[in-house]
Amino acid sequence: MKNVLIVGIGAGNPEHMTVQAINALNHADVLFIPTKGDAKAQLADIRRDIVSRYVAKPQSRVVEFEIPVRQTAERSYNQSVDQWHAAIASAYERLLTDELRAGQTGAFLVWGDPMLYDSTIRIIERVRALETVAFDYSVIPGITSIQALAASHRIPLNLVGKPVEITTGRRLHGSFPEKTETAVVMLDGEQAFMKIEDPDARIYWGAYLGTEQEIIISGRLAEVRDEVLKTRAEARARHGWIMDIYLLQKGRDFEE
Ligand SMILES: C[S@@+](CC[C@H](N)C(=O)[O-])C[C@H]1O[C@@H](n2cnc3c(N)ncnc32)[C@H](O)[C@@H]1O
Repeated sequence: MKNVLIVGIGAGNPEHMTVQAINALNHADVLFIPTKGDAKAQLADIRRDIVSRYVAKPQSRVVEFEIPVRQTAERSYNQSVDQWHAAIASAYERLLTDELRAGQTGAFLVWGDPMLYDSTIRIIERVRALETVAFDYSVIPGITSIQALAASHRIPLNLVGKPVEITTGRRLHGSFPEKTETAVVMLDGEQAFMKIEDPDARIYWGAYLGTEQEIIISGRLAEVRDEVLKTRAEARARHGWIMDIYLLQKGRDFEE
């Protein structure tokens, strides 16, 4: 039987790596590193840095593979993601068939934690369902970008006794501030915070968290949103890519 480890590596700072994650990488025979094209080359570099810092097993090897690009033309969002996952599942199937021998362990280095807006677990389940390569797998948790954001801003995530919604830019509309007092927004390519008109709303924004380029801005949304928009656009142009996340909140602790 082959074995797969899905290892959360933290959200940008190599020191996010847990002892469990370091031990998992050192247990693996093959370390799979995804590459996503030139713009996001830094993300592959951070994974390479993690391997060279923490992996001390001379006989293990790194296998880099290209993640297929998601096709969006003439498809609904769900169709597009489903087809994309199928393409990645084929790539994983090839890796597990060609790069791992029976009895060997392969590790996928997953950004942040594998349970948060990441499909490695569901794609690995898809590969298992194909029944073309037999393997078992385990998941090792990691520090998420939500934790990195809260730590950098030195804030608790929730108001006392209150819930938190985790959502995407596409889904923010109608959620905050109508339905939830605290929303974490990820994967926001449209800067959905610009459409929120609530005088009480605060934003805690962060980009490239945990890396040398980290930028954070916080304050009353109405007062800082133009600054966030401008800073984001400038940083994106300077680096050629951006990853950002933010918390929107209204109300106060102990208010009903
Ligand atoms: C595909 S999701 C992966 C999330 C990841 N599994 C996690 O645990 O954080 C990518 C989104 O996570 C957020 N993100 C991840 N790392 C980040 C970082 N270092 N700085 C800011 N946002 C980050 C951004 O919202 C980005 O669009």
